[in-house]
Amino acid sequence: MINKLEVVPFKDTPEQNKQLMKVIDDYKNVEGALIQVLKKAQEIYSYLPLEVQQMVAEGMNIPLEEVFGAVTFYSFFSLKPIGKYRISVCQGTACYVKGGQAVLDEVKKNIGISAGETTPDGLFSIQDTRCLGCCGLAPVMTVNDDVYGKVDPKEIKNILAKYQ
Ligand code: FES
Repeated sequence: MINKLEVVPFKDTPEQNKQLMKVIDDYKNVEGALIQVLKKAQEIYSYLPLEVQQMVAEGMNIPLEEVFGAVTFYSFFSLKPIGKYRISVCQGTACYVKGGQAVLDEVKKNIGISAGETTPDGLFSIQDTRCLGCCGLAPVMTVNDDVYGKVDPKEIKNILAKYQ
């Protein structure tokens, strides 16, 4: 299964490597810390390529298969580089009923990519998202930690402009 992954060239800086080694060092003796370490690794690299998974597996003394299994199980982990700004347009039931699809379509139209993709300049990614836990605000979208509720597709241009 690992061999079938799309190959994205991996570039590591000494600073990133140092940060990851520190994270591994901090957590290597903590039971059940794999997800936490992977989250921090993704913050450092913006994604979790096989090379990073290998470093985590070796550092934490965990089989690579287990690391790979966690990375592919949780939707918040990405095997491909993700943008500086991660856009999530909720497609959960409440948001879908209130026009979430139209919001998503407008986002796609504005930045020219589909869910699961990153713009060529690395600025935006669109993530496929189910309920974000704030259904009363449907339809909801987030850009990193910023939450936008009762979004009208007409507002998308202005929302995205804040990040360009
Ligand atoms: S369905 Fe969108 S926030 Fe719950």
